[in-house]
Amino acid sequence: MKPIASEHLLELAALLKERVGLHVRREGHSALRIAVAARLEGLAAVADSGAYLALLRSGAGDEELRRLLPLVTVGKTSFFRDERQFRALDAILPGLLERARSGGRRVAIWSAGCATGEEPYSIAMAAADAGAGPDDVEILATDVNPEAVAFAARGAYDPRRVREIPAHYLGRHFDRDGDAFHVRSGLRRYLRAIRPHNLVSSAFPRPAEGGWDVVFCRNVIIYFDTPTTQAVLAQFHEALAPGGYLFLGYSESLFRLFDGFELTEVSGAFLYRRPEAPTRAGPSAPLAPPSRPHLVQMPAAPPPVRHLSLVPPPAARPSAPAPDPEPLPLAPQEYLDAAVALFADGRFGAARELLERLLEKGGDDLAARLTLANLYGVLRQPDRARASYQAALALEPLSAEAHLFYGIHLLSGGDAEEAALELARALFLDPDLALGHYYLGRCREAQRDVVRARLAYRNALEAYRRRPDGRAQAFLGYYPDIPEDGSAFARAAEYALAAL
Ligand SMILES: C[S@@+](CC[C@H](N)C(=O)[O-])C[C@H]1O[C@@H](n2cnc3c(N)ncnc32)[C@H](O)[C@@H]1O
Repeated sequence: MKPIASEHLLELAALLKERVGLHVRREGHSALRIAVAARLEGLAAVADSGAYLALLRSGAGDEELRRLLPLVTVGKTSFFRDERQFRALDAILPGLLERARSGGRRVAIWSAGCATGEEPYSIAMAAADAGAGPDDVEILATDVNPEAVAFAARGAYDPRRVREIPAHYLGRHFDRDGDAFHVRSGLRRYLRAIRPHNLVSSAFPRPAEGGWDVVFCRNVIIYFDTPTTQAVLAQFHEALAPGGYLFLGYSESLFRLFDGFELTEVSGAFLYRRPEAPTRAGPSAPLAPPSRPHLVQMPAAPPPVRHLSLVPPPAARPSAPAPDPEPLPLAPQEYLDAAVALFADGRFGAARELLERLLEKGGDDLAARLTLANLYGVLRQPDRARASYQAALALEPLSAEAHLFYGIHLLSGGDAEEAALELARALFLDPDLALGHYYLGRCREAQRDVVRARLAYRNALEAYRRRPDGRAQAFLGYYPDIPEDGSAFARAAEYALAAL
């Protein structure tokens, strides 16, 4: 292993704070060390951490820092995260098992972006509960972050993390040793492998036979820009068996991003499915002007979906954690869509109520946080907006979108200094954000820095030209006053340049 000096880790932590606002505490330095070691392994010309820091500070540094970032942060996860999706899994498992058994093969499930393992072990518990033995299923768990993978492979969780596991499952699948709950070997046997894999740059793994019956890739594509997401989805499409399911995070809509999957509702969760018969798969055709992807009129009316297989919801999970006295009557995605429809319709109070309720009852979610932050801004509640953007960034520190819209919010409040910092972070994470360059130009003007204002406006124009023809920028949150096709900003940047 190449040498890594502690003082270089300190410098690197400072660099991460400055460039992307990521706060790596002292306790996180061991994770930083592992991440740097993983990068150094693939960089033959870089001898040690000193040379690595020099590389990060050089002209090629931004690119390398972007590669390092996903290795440094471990995303938020939990056991049985999004209960509806696990109910959907419970509903489809018996059919998948039957089909696989009659074909003499195993049900193949891939947890892509598995973080610290809560997701694949939850899948294994669901499979065991459906009557599958370890030889009936093969579960693969992968993540780009080697430290997260190592944690998942250890399979030891503290009491706080296992709170979401129904008592019955905990007793059956975990051994308690002091303050740690260890995954029993019986459950571990359901997992074929837990290993590092980068969805962006590595070939996609295949199961022993055929394609994947189920792929979980939840709350991962939020890290990717539009072309990367489309490339990753094309590979999932290819790797799934015909009829196979793709589970995404509840706000990760593929609308306008990718054609080729069918949207289906199972037990209240929306899943994407590779059709049984071949169809044209690929990025969605460029679309005309912004209209919100998945709008629905009212909370009571779910978005239109093709109901391919409606499976009756199974009985509740045995001895699940204390039931929520007032559970959400709709799936979180339906709530979000309904709130967005109300927002678009100018019914701000009702939209705010729905979003606040969603966040309270349906769990934290980046799209809901950002939409609510923007809504608070529209409602002229800057402190709440600020707190909401900060909560979004605490949830996903590497979200370019969160930094971008927080920056725009700060600028609208007259804080050009802070706004420029946030916008620079957004642009570091995604240099193609024409919108970010444009607003950075506005910050520079407010700071009376004409030279840097010009540069930012030119960058906005260039970023706009780099974008494939007519391709709209897809944002997770909802911002009705921001045109998604970027041409309005390109024009505004041209005017601003002419006036400077
Ligand atoms: C927010 S966590 C989601 C964990 C889990 N899927 C869930 O929903 O609970 C996102 C995970 O995606 C991983 N990730 C980010 N970029 C990735 C990439 N290019 N390839 C594979 N995993 C990636 C991160 O390391 C992180 O562990």
